[in-house]
Amino acid sequence: MTSSTIRPASDYPPGGDAFRHRHLTGIAQLTPWEISYVLDAAEEWVDLNRSGAAKHDDRLAGLTIINAFFENSTRTLLSFEIAGKRLGADVVNMHAAQSSVKKGETLIDTAMTLNAMRADAIVIRHASSGAVQLIADKVDCPVLNAGDGRHEHPTQALLDALTIRRRKGRVEGLTIAICGDVLHSRVARSNILALTLLGNEVRIVAPPTLTPPAMERMHVTTFTDMDEGIKDADVVMMLRLQNERMDGAYLPSAREYHALYGLTPKRLEQAKPDAIVMHPGPMNRGVEIDSSIADDADRSTITEQVEMGVAVRMACLDILTRRQRGVPGWN
Ligand code: CP
Repeated sequence: MTSSTIRPASDYPPGGDAFRHRHLTGIAQLTPWEISYVLDAAEEWVDLNRSGAAKHDDRLAGLTIINAFFENSTRTLLSFEIAGKRLGADVVNMHAAQSSVKKGETLIDTAMTLNAMRADAIVIRHASSGAVQLIADKVDCPVLNAGDGRHEHPTQALLDALTIRRRKGRVEGLTIAICGDVLHSRVARSNILALTLLGNEVRIVAPPTLTPPAMERMHVTTFTDMDEGIKDADVVMMLRLQNERMDGAYLPSAREYHALYGLTPKRLEQAKPDAIVMHPGPMNRGVEIDSSIADDADRSTITEQVEMGVAVRMACLDILTRRQRGVPGWN
């Protein structure tokens, strides 16, 4: 355990130099040590959440956080809400289905409306890649990307990295297979960026129709054979088939997909005996992953990923609001 991921806090540059960004729009903007800075901050929240002590922290008291979700969510929306409230902020959720978006209001007009309400941070999920950056460029407060189209889902990648680090003792030098519908997955994209940046061997395992072009530019190896792709992997990360983003026939059938790419106990034998299995959720049980694996607490990290999501989002909200809170060194 060395270098970028496991390092004492005293090694980071002081104050705001440790994390220079006003927004969190993607992993692509981060350095390895900015990632580990967030992971280390989140690690403290894991312990405090478990002990109940985090509920008594009110460092974000007086701040208003708006969660503006233009797409459905369970984990990300609720964990951002819990994270904000646990730190003492007022958290308001805007559900697009009940908003003036339904009356034809544009994204920019919606963003300017939220800005006029003087939010202290805005968390956005949107179906269009780049929508979050568009809003970040228009508003006065930090913007956090909760998933935009096929582009990025940075807090998911951070919580996945934290989960791996806790389970494997490190998040570097590992062989990590990301399997399934990579083409439509912002989770895959953010994870590829984060996990390669931290020094892991990342493999993509997907049918040709669900493999994005030019993946070698992202420093990954691609496989179309699942058994080969997960061979000797330390981490097998399964992805959901994102039917809502498919505008054509990418697969013959869910049954055939399961036969070729579903994670079964037999297939998992190809990975290392102590390999962990991850899934960002929501899962299609019996399609990309068998229930016997998803519910195996020794192999599956799925509920731990959800737990890490709260801690990572607490860390992100804390770090990104330090400038407006006037935390010394963060100007
Ligand atoms: N992993 C994830 O983004 O889940 P939700 O869609 O439930 O937020």
